[in-house]
Amino acid sequence: MTMTHSDIDSAAVGLGFGLGEELSMVRDSARDFADGVLAPLATKHDREESIADDVYEQLGELGFWGLTLPEEYGGADLGNVALAVVLEEINRVCASTGVAVSVHNSLLCAPLMKFGTDEQKAHWLPKLASGEAIGAYSLSEAGSGSDAAALAATAERDGDDWILRGTKLWVTSGDRAGLFLVYVRTNPELPKAKGITAFLMPGDAPGLKIGKHEMKTGIRGSATVELILDDVRLGPECILGEVDRGFPIAMDTLAGGRIGIASQAVGIGQACLDASIKYAKEREQFGKPIGYFQAIQHKLADMSARLEASRLLVRKAAWMRDRGMEVNRQSSEAKLLASQAANFCADEAVQIHGGAGYTDDFHVERLFRDARITEIYEGATDIQRLVIARDLLR
Ligand code: CAA
Repeated sequence: MTMTHSDIDSAAVGLGFGLGEELSMVRDSARDFADGVLAPLATKHDREESIADDVYEQLGELGFWGLTLPEEYGGADLGNVALAVVLEEINRVCASTGVAVSVHNSLLCAPLMKFGTDEQKAHWLPKLASGEAIGAYSLSEAGSGSDAAALAATAERDGDDWILRGTKLWVTSGDRAGLFLVYVRTNPELPKAKGITAFLMPGDAPGLKIGKHEMKTGIRGSATVELILDDVRLGPECILGEVDRGFPIAMDTLAGGRIGIASQAVGIGQACLDASIKYAKEREQFGKPIGYFQAIQHKLADMSARLEASRLLVRKAAWMRDRGMEVNRQSSEAKLLASQAANFCADEAVQIHGGAGYTDDFHVERLFRDARITEIYEGATDIQRLVIARDLLR
């Protein structure tokens, strides 16, 4: 097991920033899995636009599908700091796998645990913890991206049941999800955010159709699909929380999810830095390794500083969420800076690699493409600024 620069920093500081014994073991198992299993597959995932089935199974064996769930449901009960650490390691090697793990844990398991009934938890959480059911989150539509409350899909009462109609977009893992958390409008009379309900929709619900698979710039191994709700009939047991009170669930859930995407960004950025350090030592120009030149040194220094600052913000937000504290602003601050750091690092990594970095001979080309989404999904950069500013001014 090799130590990275950030491990050495964290261990040396001794001010409570170190991971401690249990989290170090979790990090080591995530790192071994990432370097041993994912590294040989990451390019294949990208080129073939799918994640190997075996990866889903091994993530289950490692307990990564139920990282934050209580042991009574088959989870590891390790909390959000552990999730952030695991996500950083997985995303350092394969961001397609990383987003699936992030969405499953933070956008599905977490709200089900927080807002679900005992029956919903008993039915779904063991399946989610083992990976038998993969979780997906479905909020966005063609007309509602940043303005999430503008969503137009509906659910209409039919006796005790509800009939869901409409089209949802940008659903991560939607091709193989066993359970979707889907948001639809249940009361058109109420103003935008007020009349929305969250439903737990099984992947095999009659009337649910998987539409277009998006052809994306990066995280190509992760399927992003359209969902067509063609008279999907769901019983009252599928409602998460209260009727017409789903939007606050969506927002609270995203406050947690953004810590996951910020962890992803730190992982991608770290991979860019690692690759750049290696290349700076090996590549010679003007008779010297390029790392000898100050222009390259300054790039590496800026990458390292921005990543370490982002990592600390991520862990702080995760630590606060584990203690039940409100993290609206903190998770947006972590995502804002970490996603910018990832894109900065990816850009510099390609520049350091020169022409070689612009080809698929080096994986910085994939990292450059993968980094881009971290400034877009789970709230674009300007939405993070909006959330932060609203908190400051309230
Ligand atoms: N926790 C609980 N409730 C919250 C909350 C939070 N963190 N944030 C807001 N709310 C509540 C408000 O209190 C308010 O409740 P009341 O109706 O009781 O007053 C309600 O939610 C509406 O809040 P706002 O007035 O702030 O809503 P808004 O319409 O102004 O929208 C927004 C705010 C921040 C712009 C929001 O629309 C947003 O986050 N947009 C970005 C959407 C987004 O991130 N989409 C990601 C899609 S999922 C994805 O990418 C997943 C994937 O697959 C990778």
